[in-house]
Amino acid sequence: MGVNTDRVMPSDALVLFGVSGDLVHKMIFPSLYAMVIRGHLDIPIIGVASSEWNVDRLTKHVRHSIDAAGGVTDHQAFRRLLSLLRYVKGDYRDETTFAAIKRELRSASRPAHYLAIPPTLFATVIQGLGAAGLANEARLIVEKPFGRDLASAQALNRTAQSVFPESSIFRIDHYLGKEAIMNILYFRFANSFLEPIWNRNYIAGVQLTLSEAFGVKTRGAFYESAGCLRDVIQNHLLQVVALLAMEPPAYQGYAAIHSEKAKVFQAMRSLKPRDVVRGQYAGYRLEPGVAKGSNVETYCAVRLFIDSWRWDGVPWYLRSGKCLAETAAEVLVELKDPPQKLFSDSTLSAERTNYLRFRLSPRTAVALAARTKRPGHEFVGDQQELYLLDEHPGEEGPYERLLGDALLGDNALFTRQDAVEAAWAVVDPVLKRHSKVLPYKRGSWGPVGRDQGVEPERGWHNPELGGLNTRRPKRQRT
Ligand code: BG6
Repeated sequence: MGVNTDRVMPSDALVLFGVSGDLVHKMIFPSLYAMVIRGHLDIPIIGVASSEWNVDRLTKHVRHSIDAAGGVTDHQAFRRLLSLLRYVKGDYRDETTFAAIKRELRSASRPAHYLAIPPTLFATVIQGLGAAGLANEARLIVEKPFGRDLASAQALNRTAQSVFPESSIFRIDHYLGKEAIMNILYFRFANSFLEPIWNRNYIAGVQLTLSEAFGVKTRGAFYESAGCLRDVIQNHLLQVVALLAMEPPAYQGYAAIHSEKAKVFQAMRSLKPRDVVRGQYAGYRLEPGVAKGSNVETYCAVRLFIDSWRWDGVPWYLRSGKCLAETAAEVLVELKDPPQKLFSDSTLSAERTNYLRFRLSPRTAVALAARTKRPGHEFVGDQQELYLLDEHPGEEGPYERLLGDALLGDNALFTRQDAVEAAWAVVDPVLKRHSKVLPYKRGSWGPVGRDQGVEPERGWHNPELGGLNTRRPKRQRT
């Protein structure tokens, strides 16, 4: 799909608020380095933080960041990256900080301001940028979480839009920059065979799993303020649902996609406490930064419905959690069973008959499952998976892709204000009204079996890592 960016000017400087923080260290500098290697970045990078740093200290930080991400492979590009760095120390509440940024921008007149800072500081920095005249011709790149409920997201949108036009605001959901997720959009609308079956008449239900085999690590304090529902379900998983559920865009262009996605969120039924199961892994309360009696969920499963012509009555099951059995993300779209049970093995109602499976990570896969007859006298068969795609994700990581797009003014893979607010409206009623967390063992699949009503009829499909390295289908005895 073509994107028209020829009327917008590229940014001529990148201002990184929160440059000494974790996100910039882990994700942003490795992405900037990769962009320099590809020749996609050659503008000043102005790091801003409250730490008593200078450019030399920032340089050390960058070196450490690249080392942690695999080390320097291209020394020339690395030196080039270092030569782009500038540093401003300051308090975000102080106007002299913004005056110092203005000085460091020198002749740059179209900066992109990246807020990799705690959300509580977003409004302060946005207003500071506006007051200092640093918003003219500029872009604002905001990291999630964009708000912590519907009211705060609306307030933040009002603040951002009072200083920047919507077309200059880039709300990052890094899931949208992932190859496997872009492929959902492509796969749905580049093929014609799906459309006739992609609706309530043929689809029995859809499951999305984002499981992580690790805990909150050093992010306990952040997690205590978020929880799984806010951290990944309201954004990453709902974005994937929107791509799976949206109507075909009316024209070639991303504005049409943004509109169709927003309509999906608007048609989603708001969650009620009975649609949500919350779990907490054993030992979470002992993690640094976590309250002793914490009721924050490290696992969350939800069942939702989209009240639209296409999806009426089809349940969507979403779950995510830390310290689960695998690190994987997968979508399973289950088709309805054949109307008659003609063969002796058709009575195995526990087995899924036809489904489409999108493995999102760690590999990218698209597989279609069907039953075929086993050679022999009996009319019994096996379920086979036909692999349409099975590969490692492309080289360009999501942050590299999204940062590059934002600097070029291409907002295709970012979230629009109406969609963000509509997604918050879906989860808002259960952010505070919910039952107590159910404990689960580390390395398990969460409090499965106790999530009555929120569990799919045929149970959760657990992504298995082993099967993906082989194209040979597993034989299942029937
Ligand atoms: C982040 C969440 O947005 O997404 C993390 O804050 C989560 O808690 C991560 O681990 C998952 O992203 P990915 O790309 O590692 O699947």
